[in-house]
Amino acid sequence: MESMSFVLFGATGDLAKRKIFPALYNLFLDEKMPEAYSIIGLGRSSLSHDEFQTHVEESLKTFSRRTVANNAEFGEFIKAFRYQQLDVTKPEAYKNLLTFIKQREKELNLPENRLFYLSVAPEFFDDIALNIKESGLGTTKGWKRLIIEKPFGHDLESARDLNTKLSRAFKEDEIYRIDHYLGKPMVQNLETLEFANPVLQAIWNKEYIANVQITASEIVGVEDRAGYYDQAGAIRDMVQNHMLQMLMMTAMHLPKKISADDIRDEKRKVMESLRLLSKEEVGAHIIRGQYDAGEIKGEPVVKYTVEPGVDAFSTNDTFVAARLWIDNDFWKGVPFYIRTGKRMKEKSTRIVIEFKNTLKDLYQTEDQKTAPNLLVVHISPNEGVSFQLNSKNPLKNGMIEPVTADFSPVTKEVPEAYEILLFDALQGDSTFFAHWDEVELSWKWVQPVLEAFEENSIPLQTYPAGSMGPEASDKLLEENGFHWW
Ligand code: BG6
Repeated sequence: MESMSFVLFGATGDLAKRKIFPALYNLFLDEKMPEAYSIIGLGRSSLSHDEFQTHVEESLKTFSRRTVANNAEFGEFIKAFRYQQLDVTKPEAYKNLLTFIKQREKELNLPENRLFYLSVAPEFFDDIALNIKESGLGTTKGWKRLIIEKPFGHDLESARDLNTKLSRAFKEDEIYRIDHYLGKPMVQNLETLEFANPVLQAIWNKEYIANVQITASEIVGVEDRAGYYDQAGAIRDMVQNHMLQMLMMTAMHLPKKISADDIRDEKRKVMESLRLLSKEEVGAHIIRGQYDAGEIKGEPVVKYTVEPGVDAFSTNDTFVAARLWIDNDFWKGVPFYIRTGKRMKEKSTRIVIEFKNTLKDLYQTEDQKTAPNLLVVHISPNEGVSFQLNSKNPLKNGMIEPVTADFSPVTKEVPEAYEILLFDALQGDSTFFAHWDEVELSWKWVQPVLEAFEENSIPLQTYPAGSMGPEASDKLLEENGFHWW
């Protein structure tokens, strides 16, 4: 891995503290950082280098999965950190930053490889990209890369606009759009599971698969993010990015090579075949929900509209379920269901593949029937895969019953998504970052849904906090003779 400068915009923010510093620290402990590097934190407040290093240390003590020892090794890590106060909207400030980066490059004998990480509010994305270009920060003798956090736009048009602006300063292969779900080990494992196993590869299509169900349920409510969430809703917060990324990873076809370009090509093809809904069709395939008061793990919780910061008449979606169709040769006629929501019964992200049960009549008797085979990919909290098969139970006179074979490919403590993704970005591997084509096509699918929600043309269903969502979400599957697993 090449030596480089890591330039972090938003270094005093929440994400830096919770995710980015711990990820860097764990990469350092695992000897996955480049031989030499400089880390420059940028923020609005005025901090000395020492104060910034203390801030990083405090963050690690609270959020790192590994403990922070006060020893020479830690000293080695922390000494790479420097701080610069920067008003990101002031072009002249970037000149000073350039001088500082160059000075550090000289001191540490670093090549001009620069990774810019935008961990700031989205309204600053375009200004920063432009200023990086105009100030000469982006004119390097080595490589330059841009890591950008979500949200990537708030609808199709704003996403396109942002991309046009970014692409004036960075080429597509220099832009790393983070979707932290793509950093989750079991999401990264999907393609291997599907294709490195000929047994599964052979049946990964419409001939054998009855339907696919992707669930990401959360226990937490809106927390302290009403300002953002009440505008975004589950549709922008989870569906446009994480849910559709999981769908792409599940439905992609065998790539020619296992490379970033080929994998992302296959994902794009899935999105190109995704059936677009007209605004009028949204109501038939999408369920929009909002949580009501309820109880989670024995504790009462309030309804969404009385949460701090939420508009008392908000019609924002805290739950979305959808039925999607991929109109290509592999998936024609197979419904893909997704559902995600806040204040649900459990925290669980999983993908269930339900196989067709073609021989069920053969085994059906008055007191037994066979269950469909299910392959369940548990993404979090406990990574693993389970397979439900039918088997005779000798203790019950040979009655056929479903049995489950479980395995967990991960035995030790699992690295966090941010560690995996940062390591990839440091190496220049963009496989698990969202390509612009994927992002644009996702917004294209989401756009009519946003419009239908905004016009209130489909009902807002309520669901009690602590449930698995509105009843209408169950009906969506019943219409096709299925139920959520
Ligand atoms: C984020 C959303 O992208 O993902 C949050 O903004 C959500 O609202 C979070 O809670 C869920 O991530 P995870 O990794 O906890 O499943």
